Amino acid sequence: MTETLYERLGGEDAIAAVVDDFYDRVLADEQVAYYFEDTNMQKQRAHQTQFISSVTGGPVEYTGTEMDAAHEGMGINAAEFGAIATHLEETLAEYDVPEGDREAVLEEIAGYRDVIVTASE
Ligand code: HEM
Repeated sequence: MTETLYERLGGEDAIAAVVDDFYDRVLADEQVAYYFEDTNMQKQRAHQTQFISSVTGGPVEYTGTEMDAAHEGMGINAAEFGAIATHLEETLAEYDVPEGDREAVLEEIAGYRDVIVTASE
């Protein structure tokens, strides 16, 4: 049987560790950190772990809000989306995830770009 991307990433525990470091990077980046000022980061980390696990083919249910409603009214622009995606890419690289798998994760995430990005500038 072919391994899923989820399995190659190391499963839910490994993804949770990536997500933890990913949000450390996001919160250290003043371009986007302010978005999360009133966010419960424990819940955010848990939901993001579920989300990435499920879109990479894991047997994990995402129990958070759908991507369009979760980001509605935030006015996120393309540059901010790019900054967040880059933090994820760099964190995956730090965890020695090979380039092909990093690209595959980013491709899954890019599929939600149009519902998350609602501002032109
Ligand atoms: C790169 C793709 C992205 C993915 C996969 C993603 C994923 C998620 C997920 C899973 C949640 C949790 C929703 C819930 O708990 O019900 C969430 C919430 C949130 N996202 Fe994103 N997101 C992305 C991009 C962004 C960007 C670019 C920003 C801002 C620059 C952003 C800001 C937020 C904020 C502030 C919340 C939390 C709202 C709250 O306090 O409840 N997200 N996102």
